[in-house]
Amino acid sequence: MLLEVDAVTKRFGGLTAVSAVSFGVAEGAVVGLIGPNGAGKTTLFNLIAGALPPSSGRIRFAGADITGEKPHRVCRRGLARTFQIVRPFGNLSVLDNVIVGAFTRTHDRRTAYDEAERLLETTGLGRWRDAAARSLPIGLRKRLEVARALATRPQLLLLDEVMNGLNPTELTEMMALIRSLNGAGTTILLIEHVMAAVMNLCSRIVVIHHGEKVAEAAPREIAHDPRVIEAYLGEAYLIE
Ligand SMILES: Nc1ncnc2c1ncn2[C@@H]1O[C@H](COP(=O)(O)OP(=O)(O)O)[C@@H](O)[C@H]1O
Ligand SMILES: [Mg+2]
Repeated sequence: MLLEVDAVTKRFGGLTAVSAVSFGVAEGAVVGLIGPNGAGKTTLFNLIAGALPPSSGRIRFAGADITGEKPHRVCRRGLARTFQIVRPFGNLSVLDNVIVGAFTRTHDRRTAYDEAERLLETTGLGRWRDAAARSLPIGLRKRLEVARALATRPQLLLLDEVMNGLNPTELTEMMALIRSLNGAGTTILLIEHVMAAVMNLCSRIVVIHHGEKVAEAAPREIAHDPRVIEAYLGEAYLIE
């Protein structure tokens, strides 16, 4: 397993946001993390990426124990994430935002610039390279989040609701982007409410509810698990 989450718990005062959750992400996989609002999904990302230390449990990445490591260390190991609430440097141009990401891997300006230009093409942001990040509509800001994360050259990419709020065209483009990144060798763990996208992209799905893992299976099984559908997803998520 590239990523191993082992009995990870996170408490905020009296609230247990994540409760003894264990799962693995195999190298090359696209794994989905789903569950209702407040289930603990983003907290789990914060724990994996080092933004928060777990209360207990271990996290291993690429054979190393990364439990409690700071985000920049985790990032240097090849684990990058996007934020559910997109947070680009608003005053900087789209290109400069991605260059900032690239500087985590190189100190050479030319290399960082070339890498950022390449990633803007990959993510379809080339036309907006000189626009201020804050001027972008949400669909493009989501892509910028992905481009910034990619600039750190991740082996594992954590995507937190990058398809939320996208129109159908943007959604199709984002799915194609995720598929092509995965095809090029990036392992992906994604939190997503757009069930058609989750079902299409993921080889495995982990279901979280009230901080606990309640199911883990292939998309087909999840889609047909009445327990998951009724108790955790609701009828609106029925996809067939
Ligand atoms: N930094 C924090 N301090 C206190 N409570 C938090 C913090 N972050 C998240 N929570 C709480 O943890 C629970 C899980 O939140 P979150 O992980 O954001 O859920 P999800 O991403 O699945 O919607 C919620 O009850 C939320 O209010
Ligand atoms: Mg969340």
